[in-house]
Amino acid sequence: MSAGPGRVALVTGGGGGIGTAVALRLADEGAAVAVVDRDAAAETVAARIRATGGHATSFKCDLADEYDVADMVEDVTHTLGNITDVCCVAGSIQRGTVTDLSFDSWHNTLADNVDSVFLVCRAVIPYMERAGQGRIVTVASGWGLRAGEKAAAYCTAKAGVVMLTQAIALDHGPAGVRINCVAPGDTRTPMLSQEARQLGQQETEFLAEAADRPLGRIGNPADVAAAVAFLASPDADFITGAVLTVDGGGTI
Ligand SMILES: NC(=O)c1ccc[n+]([C@@H]2O[C@H](COP(=O)([O-])OP(=O)(O)OC[C@H]3O[C@@H](n4cnc5c(N)ncnc54)[C@H](O)[C@@H]3O)[C@@H](O)[C@H]2O)c1
Repeated sequence: MSAGPGRVALVTGGGGGIGTAVALRLADEGAAVAVVDRDAAAETVAARIRATGGHATSFKCDLADEYDVADMVEDVTHTLGNITDVCCVAGSIQRGTVTDLSFDSWHNTLADNVDSVFLVCRAVIPYMERAGQGRIVTVASGWGLRAGEKAAAYCTAKAGVVMLTQAIALDHGPAGVRINCVAPGDTRTPMLSQEARQLGQQETEFLAEAADRPLGRIGNPADVAAAVAFLASPDADFITGAVLTVDGGGTI
């Protein structure tokens, strides 16, 4: 496990399924956690961590807004101290083919999934470089590695997250910043229910189809959080620019 004292972890999308699991996991490891989301659920998660003796503060932020992100990172640093770990978990999905999607849906999907990573990394990396070290974990998707049906904007966005992760690894590794990517497969969170609705499918049928993979089940948020925690830990000190699939073999 990673060192507790002095560890400050910023978790984007902390109000959602996987982000909540990541925030709880890092708090368990002793980090002070900034739970960041545009949804008020972030405060519920921070309160849950505090109630069990952990250290967490919620920050409301639109991660696709340049000024909001810059203010939030300053606020987190002021409130909790120098950010040592960043987990870019926030994202959104709008299912559809290129001919189904409005230009707005396309832009919003790219903004929530890729702009958010760009903006947070741009704001945090200078602090990490001054400290001579920093750890970042991004969350893409198996669909950032291999296209999936009726998800043109999402697949494009997640491929962007993978490539942005590797570009940052190259540019900022020499200054001590490690960045890696977790690519989950279907994981039981509100996002999956939303996808079933967007496709007009029964949720039970959608989940049963999603479980059709070598390990025969969909993921739990804690499965993904464990991989994020590993990549942020000293056990991964010589790993940067890597993409770790956590999908029960779904992309084999
Ligand atoms: N659930 C899955 O099956 C699955 C599979 C592969 C990848 N992922 C990825 O994992 C990550 C977490 O997904 P989840 O399943 O927990 O989804 P979720 O919908 O439960 O949570 C996503 C969270 O991100 C927040 N968010 C999105 N855009 C934001 C913005 N612009 N500003 C502030 N907050 C914003 C939402 O408010 C929400 O709380 C996402 O990047 C998603 O694409 C999920």
